[in-house]
Amino acid sequence: MGKKTILDIEVRGKRVLVRVDFNVPLDMKTGAITDDSRIRAALPTIRYLVDHKAKVILCSHLGRPGGRVVEELRMTPVAQRLSHLIDLPVSAVSDCIGVEVEKAIENLNDGEVLLLENLRFHPEEEANDPSFAQALAKLADIYVNDAFGSAHRAHASTVGVAKYLPAVVGFLMEKELEALSSILTNPEHPFGGLLGGAKVSDKIGLIQNILDKVDLLLIGGGMAATFLKVQGYEVGLSLVEADKQGLARQLIQATQKTEASLLLPVDVVVSDSISEQATGEVVPIAEILPNKYIVDIGPRTIALFSQQLRQCQTVFWNGPMGVYEVPQFAQGTRALVELLANLKATTIVGGGSTAEIVEEMNLTDKMAHVSTGGGASLRFLEGKSLPGVAVLLDKGQ
Ligand code: 3PG
Repeated sequence: MGKKTILDIEVRGKRVLVRVDFNVPLDMKTGAITDDSRIRAALPTIRYLVDHKAKVILCSHLGRPGGRVVEELRMTPVAQRLSHLIDLPVSAVSDCIGVEVEKAIENLNDGEVLLLENLRFHPEEEANDPSFAQALAKLADIYVNDAFGSAHRAHASTVGVAKYLPAVVGFLMEKELEALSSILTNPEHPFGGLLGGAKVSDKIGLIQNILDKVDLLLIGGGMAATFLKVQGYEVGLSLVEADKQGLARQLIQATQKTEASLLLPVDVVVSDSISEQATGEVVPIAEILPNKYIVDIGPRTIALFSQQLRQCQTVFWNGPMGVYEVPQFAQGTRALVELLANLKATTIVGGGSTAEIVEEMNLTDKMAHVSTGGGASLRFLEGKSLPGVAVLLDKGQ
């Protein structure tokens, strides 16, 4: 990775500002945290700093409040959950910069933890405003970035602040970068990519970057419709990204020139509508009617994809195989997640909703790595640099 980590600096007695990604999903009605994986993933760094007697100042965004205070997006429930998980008191403050925060930090003892209020209550955070970054930097002696999920954002707390403090990588960030780099640099072969999700446009950069690394590319989910369409199949009312058909065609042609094989569904579940009440019907891909939506992969496709994935030593998965939110259309995704969890291969799972599915199925521990970053993992696997990592100190510095 080549970046300095918290192991490379003295933290004892120091004020350490740790950017974490505690942007956890919340129940819209009750405000309760529905998945605390991101909080649990940051615990090793927090525990290390507590054990090494640093004054631990955590900061994060939560949701997209748009630069103003939104009561439902306060960090209070996050502080409570963190305190429960780490079994230590976690104090919270009602802002992330300013006099009240500075006072709270003055009163912080070595080994104690403070969580600042939602960074995005200030418009300057997303604008990467230098004065805001300086106000954050003023709170600490050292900056640690452990927010892999936000490392693709060039905000004040992920990029700006690193200019004013010694800035190093936390354990979660290090683990993410190592796991994701391993599939770009030295995956064990055969290496399979299982890709789904609604849109081809979200995954094009990724497909282009891994095409010469994979032996096998399996495409399901809504994005399969665009690939099926360019192969001349009727895809009914399914979303086809007209402007991406040329690219889909090029990708199919590119796989024909490489060693990699591209597999598309051979049968699908179709439905008249996409709703909780809708019912599905399995059809071969040549028999999709114009008034139907593709909502899942069919049983023959599940069998075909499973048989192919069983041959792999490394698998990367990102994106559901169907309309996962509707339980009756989640079968393809669930079947393949079960399969991945039981493979001997190194299974790496992309973040965001893909990670939430694995967590909901209680299978996170059965995967080699489940990323905590949706957009960040995609961007990294597209071969692009992450601004929140680029600004951190290199080993030799
Ligand atoms: C995420 O959930 O992908 C990160 O926390 C970044 O959030 P954002 O997309 O609102 O910047």
